Amino acid sequence: MAGGRRVVLGVTGGVAAYKSAYLARRLMERGAIVRVVMTEAAQQFVGTATFAAITGTEPVTCLFGDEDVSPHTTLGQWAEVIVIAPATASTISKLAVGESSNALTATVLASRAPVVVAPAMHTEMWDHPATRRNVETLRGHGYTIVEPEPGILAGGDVGIGRMAEPVTIADTVEALFSAPDMAGLNVMVTAGGTREPIDPVRYIGNRSSGKMGNAIAEVAVARGAKVLLVTAAEPPEETAIEVVTVETADEMAEAVWSRIPEMDVAVMAAAVADFKPLTTGSSKIRRAEGIPEIELVETPDILKGVHETEPRPIIVGFAAETGSLDAAVSKAKAKGVDLLVANDVAKEGSGFGSETNEVRFVFGDGSVRDFDLMSKREVASEIWDAVMNLRTEP
Ligand SMILES: Cc1cc2nc3c(=O)[nH]c(=O)nc-3n(C[C@H](O)[C@H](O)[C@H](O)COP(=O)(O)O)c2cc1C
Repeated sequence: MAGGRRVVLGVTGGVAAYKSAYLARRLMERGAIVRVVMTEAAQQFVGTATFAAITGTEPVTCLFGDEDVSPHTTLGQWAEVIVIAPATASTISKLAVGESSNALTATVLASRAPVVVAPAMHTEMWDHPATRRNVETLRGHGYTIVEPEPGILAGGDVGIGRMAEPVTIADTVEALFSAPDMAGLNVMVTAGGTREPIDPVRYIGNRSSGKMGNAIAEVAVARGAKVLLVTAAEPPEETAIEVVTVETADEMAEAVWSRIPEMDVAVMAAAVADFKPLTTGSSKIRRAEGIPEIELVETPDILKGVHETEPRPIIVGFAAETGSLDAAVSKAKAKGVDLLVANDVAKEGSGFGSETNEVRFVFGDGSVRDFDLMSKREVASEIWDAVMNLRTEP
């Protein structure tokens, strides 16, 4: 969604400046073209070479002496969005009064682009009436403030003031570019691999990392949807997602079925165990007891329950195959899903744990669309584009 968009990243002098390198990377991964402008203090914390290597362009660090006779107006007019991360108390105060004494603040003043500000500072500085007033002034300018979070601050102190995570800031930037075409939609996403306990120590599990489901949830939030993520894995940092954490297939079934009547769309990206041990030992099975026999029984058919909901939500299913994806068409029909996303998890760069995926879409009518290898986030965008198309089809 940020593909080809021109983003100016302003970096100021706080410890969180090291995280700006991650932010630059995240924005580039999403297709943005990133140029960096740094204050003098920022360079005490992170070097220009880091940003030059990540973005492919030397950061702007001063108003004078550069090849460009007017770097602030060049950059300000080039920008489609300016994101300042971290934003120190000092820079926030300068922006509040419209001061333009360095390359960063001059660029902001010389631009008509929307501005995103991610403050980072000690709790005392954040709570100070001067900072509170300055932040409110920036909101009055129409700037978007990505609120700092509680956590460990410089010097080991703990409190509010830690810069928001780069992924949250990148989502905020991306949301400025994307029309909230999913506003008003309630969507459920399942993610991760369930764990079926054998005894208090061991379980039957699978290799699903939850990354695909997390990307689907994150993209839906960025497009304006209300998202419930039922997950057996680590959820994303995005705070706008409602998360229900589960461990077993039974817990996932209960969480899904209790909330499915509210949903317009259900994307079932979790890898749910098909079988579970009939009984779970209350104490650890010991080797000395000999080789145990574990009797398995079927887990609940979560998809069936979703399918029987009235009115039925649009259902997106996943099929993790090994080898050919030819079975996917019959599987889509058998499962009665509107869209089946099939991938060969044995293939390099595709499936469990990887950042990328190569998928085939099989629609309810049997039509098929194959994709090249994409980031999981791009796959998520394609899924939501397809779902939005299905909603408008007669
Ligand atoms: C070790 C250290 C850490 C600092 N961290 C922060 C910070 O997180 N937030 C902040 O507002 N100022 C912080 N400061 C103070 C700023 O660096 C200082 O106000 C500087 O003038 C900011 O300039 P700039 O906004 O032009 O980058 C820190 C200073 C030091 C020495």
